[in-house]
Amino acid sequence: MKTQDGRLYVISGASRSGKTAWTRKATARAKRIFSWDPEAQWCDVAGFHKITTRKMLLAYMAKPGPQKIAYVAGGDLKAEFDFFCGCAMYAGRYVEGLEVIAEELADVSTPSKAPGNWGILVRRGLKRGITIRAISQRWSEADKTAVGNATDFVFFRMSSGDDVRYLSRKTKIEEIEINALVPLQYVHMDALNGNISRGKLKF
Ligand SMILES: Nc1ncnc2c1ncn2[C@@H]1O[C@H](COP(=O)(O)OP(=O)(O)OP(=O)(O)O)[C@@H](O)[C@H]1O
Ligand SMILES: [Mg+2]
Repeated sequence: MKTQDGRLYVISGASRSGKTAWTRKATARAKRIFSWDPEAQWCDVAGFHKITTRKMLLAYMAKPGPQKIAYVAGGDLKAEFDFFCGCAMYAGRYVEGLEVIAEELADVSTPSKAPGNWGILVRRGLKRGITIRAISQRWSEADKTAVGNATDFVFFRMSSGDDVRYLSRKTKIEEIEINALVPLQYVHMDALNGNISRGKLKF
């Protein structure tokens, strides 16, 4: 069966290195976005609706057409993230194509395989046309499933040697190149064809 495949971006870098800014630019033209927004940043971006309850999330989940939402959850973050991922999978699979942004995965996943609905999203979402931007400062502490399924790796300056070694091993990007990155500078590998591109964010 022919499907319109989505992509899974694994985005890594230290605090203030450029991950969120890069993702903002990369998704600027997207019409339908579900964002997991633990730091309440995406909810302030023009065009995004701030969602704070499961009830609101369920209502948006069923809505077709253009919409950008930022889920700013309280309480048990792991449980809320699982719920968010279930809603995103439904919205992307049964309603209409979707971009999903997941900020700081080390807080809601573990270094083993991806938990629950996040695991389903990263294993099955791409085939359903869902594009995922998975962001973390600490990929050696976030789940292996996202890294294993990534179609793209976007690396900014990293502060942890463990992350540099781990992600270099998973890609064709040398440790020495990652270690030389300065803030806002990135290296991007398309894992489907092995192409590597480089750039620096400008505002
Ligand atoms: N629109 C903008 N104009 C100017 N500077 C910006 C803009 N957006 C981000 N920056 C700057 O770019 C740098 C990177 O910010 P960004 O939010 O992308 O970091 P990050 O990697 O997501 O960090 P964290 O892990 O803490 O979320 C920061 O110094 C920030 O102040
Ligand atoms: Mg950020």
